[in-house]
Amino acid sequence: MGSRGHTLALTLLVVHLLLLTCSSHCSLVKVNKGLKVKRGQSAFLQEGDLQFHIPVQKDACKVEVVLNEPITQRVGKLVPQVFDCHYLSDEVKYVHNGCPLLKQDTIKLRLYRFTETETYMEVFTLHVDIIAPECNIIKMGPKSLHVSEFYGLSDAIDGNMVSFHYEKKSNLECTIHLSHQESHLPAHGQLVTGDPERATKRGDEPESFIYLRQQLDNKARALCKSEDCLKGLKLVTFTKVPCEDFLLIGIKYQHIDPPSPDVDYIAIRLDLKDTRSGSIYQSEQAWVPVRIAGAMPNQPPKPSFMSMFILEVDQFILTPLSTATLDAEDEETPKQLLVFNITKHPEEGFITHLSDHTRPVSSFTWLDLNDMLIAYQPPNSSHSQRRNYEVEVEVHDFFFEKSPSITMHTSVRNADTNAPRVSWNMGLSLLEGQSRPITWDQFQIVDNDNLNVVRVITVDGLLHGQLTVRGTNTAKTQTN
Ligand SMILES: *[C@@H]1O[C@H](CO)[C@@H](O)[C@H](O)[C@H]1NC(C)=O
Ligand SMILES: *[C@@H]1O[C@H](CO)[C@@H](O)[C@H](O)[C@H]1NC(C)=O
Repeated sequence: MGSRGHTLALTLLVVHLLLLTCSSHCSLVKVNKGLKVKRGQSAFLQEGDLQFHIPVQKDACKVEVVLNEPITQRVGKLVPQVFDCHYLSDEVKYVHNGCPLLKQDTIKLRLYRFTETETYMEVFTLHVDIIAPECNIIKMGPKSLHVSEFYGLSDAIDGNMVSFHYEKKSNLECTIHLSHQESHLPAHGQLVTGDPERATKRGDEPESFIYLRQQLDNKARALCKSEDCLKGLKLVTFTKVPCEDFLLIGIKYQHIDPPSPDVDYIAIRLDLKDTRSGSIYQSEQAWVPVRIAGAMPNQPPKPSFMSMFILEVDQFILTPLSTATLDAEDEETPKQLLVFNITKHPEEGFITHLSDHTRPVSSFTWLDLNDMLIAYQPPNSSHSQRRNYEVEVEVHDFFFEKSPSITMHTSVRNADTNAPRVSWNMGLSLLEGQSRPITWDQFQIVDNDNLNVVRVITVDGLLHGQLTVRGTNTAKTQTN
């Protein structure tokens, strides 16, 4: 009897411990196999690929693609941006953009489970393997596209450089889409049609001058921003053209923007549309390479010598970084397109994006850094001395070369003030129509001398809900 009671007590204790550890460490992600996608194509997430420990019918459960992480979804996109945990097999897909440079991609996802009273949130990563397609519509070769010098012009694109292999049926309409705006490609050139006026021989100069004059003309044409100085060339402004025409109208690549790497790309998307139903029957994307003779291979970005790599922070105060704190430069990629990946997070506190300062980010763009939208949230803990934390980043350029690791030091100093301050603010997540208590985990206030008399007053916001102070607990959270 005594021993049975003992066993029961032990079992209860074990269950209790398991529950305790589970509530803090267990992941709700049950299966995460990742995705395989063929280059330039798309792949649906199948039921077995990603599963959660959440029964259908119990609790609302959603998955959100985190968008403000530029180091993720580098060569494709997961759509839709929000989907149900119990998604259907033709609902969620990754669309690859045709880039031949990367064999892998990642997607950062946020899982939300909403019960009546609580929100559980978990961040996880979905891995994408990009594999070479054995059978694709867009094929390159046998000839490749190239320019023979800086500011040069390629031959016209025809069936020898790219070809399209699909079943020709009367109800299938094949279209090529070009979108410089979306792809930023070509990165160092533009697409043109027509023939440039040739430099002609003049009586008053030696024959070898013609070539030099031709080069100068090419440069002037490349730097010119309007049609009239393009002298015989016409800028391609359409974004959509029938597949056959794409190979016939004489589209050329004009190099305009040295220094460039030795390869640039033209991004194309081919859509096969069923004219009877109006639906897209097949779609494929590709990056058509253009070799640039005389150019160097793409070089990695470097830390900028103008930056301090030190951030001074007041205790508890969310502090924006700027390019004076941290910066990098690259020979071939404009700064606007550089991406910073955090490879070592600060030991305490976190780096965040001001569009939602309650959540850590692990990467950011140079543009957001320059706009002072990237900030360091120091920890809520108080120390009598200055505290220093290290953050390490790697900077990635447009063609995916990365810099050596760059270290930034943050130095948190004690504030000498008796004013009350918000020391921690993690926000609330809830579904429409729900309500949540604001707890110490989410919102904290500190005050040196008299925390008990601190009052919180609403001064703005509350566009879609109201704040109530019910019972002692909530009231305490507000003043303590
Ligand atoms: C970005 O940094 C993370 C973490 O430090 C690392 O795991 C990841 O591979 C990096 N991403 C790339 C594309 O280098
Ligand atoms: C910091 O916040 C955590 C909860 O998020 C809390 O447990 C801890 O007590 C806080 N520390 C201080 C010094 O307020």
